[in-house]
Amino acid sequence: MAAPSLGVSPGPTNGPALALGARAVAYNGDPAPVLAEVPMPFRPRYTGLIARYRNRIPIREGARLISLGEGNTPLIQLENLPRRVAVEAEIHVKFEGLNPTGSFKDRGMTVAVTQAVDEGATGVICASTGNTSASAAAYAARAGIRAFVLIPEGKIALGKLAQAMVEGAITLQIRGNFDDGMRIVKEVAGEARIAIVNSINPFRIEGQKTAAFEVLEELGRAPDYHCIPVGNAGNITAYWKGYSEYQQEGIVAHRPCMCGYQAAGAAPFVQGAMVDHPETVATAIRIGHPQSWEQAWAVKKESGGWFDAISDEEILATQRLLATTEGIFCEPASAASLAGALRDLKAGRIEAGATIVCTLTGHGLKDPDIAMRHSGDVIPVDATLEAVRRIILDRIG
Ligand code: F0G
Repeated sequence: MAAPSLGVSPGPTNGPALALGARAVAYNGDPAPVLAEVPMPFRPRYTGLIARYRNRIPIREGARLISLGEGNTPLIQLENLPRRVAVEAEIHVKFEGLNPTGSFKDRGMTVAVTQAVDEGATGVICASTGNTSASAAAYAARAGIRAFVLIPEGKIALGKLAQAMVEGAITLQIRGNFDDGMRIVKEVAGEARIAIVNSINPFRIEGQKTAAFEVLEELGRAPDYHCIPVGNAGNITAYWKGYSEYQQEGIVAHRPCMCGYQAAGAAPFVQGAMVDHPETVATAIRIGHPQSWEQAWAVKKESGGWFDAISDEEILATQRLLATTEGIFCEPASAASLAGALRDLKAGRIEAGATIVCTLTGHGLKDPDIAMRHSGDVIPVDATLEAVRRIILDRIG
């Protein structure tokens, strides 16, 4: 066989690929090039959060892990936005929109579906405002089992619906809202070998608590405040469990103050009572009867935190602000956490100089319609150099 004139990579059968940036080695028929001396910046492959936190998640040794490489999401410190809105704080966003299906649900779903399969379930079911259904559909497909999802009529972002459908879930659009769907799921699940994968499933919480581990590992300590959007309150419960486990084991000394933000039209924790007809542009958190009611009140009390309401206008303005100042596109529900943090900083409820983590629960691409309705227009232009140049020069300053 003729040897290649320029041996860039000997290929997988001849040893590891040449490291990026390393000098290419020519080998005109000579024995294998000396690659051993080239520094190899390789690292162990990341294979999802059950593998990463094996001893902290109650999955049976030997169980088949259903994973799509979820978790390990970036904690991004905001550089421009605090200055723009004149607040003094170290604000980090945990961008959960970068999970495999675009939301934090994947953290819980890998554990819930792994456990369900291990118990012999042949299907999973959930009620969902969209993200849970997208995630359940994906992990069920990965596992080779059925997913049944109940979504509310009309009020679901198109990207989420597309995910559930393309991933092969049996998608039922009920004539009712999320709370109606949840009630039916609880009733129907007992009648087949099918596992509920909503956050009332404790394995969901076990997966989602790992986001708190990641925050603590990267900051080296707890933030002073953790701001998070609240719907069913599964996620605030999960973060608190994660923070508490690391503190109890002496890995960190403190836990953050937990601040939960709800959309004003769907704010049972702010009103102190269930809401029968929740309404908000942030359809992900259009929930009036939260499933983790007691747990969330316990988190508020133990952490010294609070719940507050954010108007739809504030939610959309913050979503846009984050996108334009930092290049981070989250979905409307996610922006509630940052909107709350900024408002509480300005009001002095959160002190200047505090370290804050905001969870951005889902990716903006899930729901482009809403975001585009509130951003600038595209500019029609003739296909000429002059027309394009004029527009650029007018705007570049
Ligand atoms: N943010 C997003 C993007 C969500 O999808 C959800 C919940 C939440 C926040 C609230 O989290 O319920 O744990 O307090 N979405 C669920 C769903 C209800 O069906 O996708 P929570």
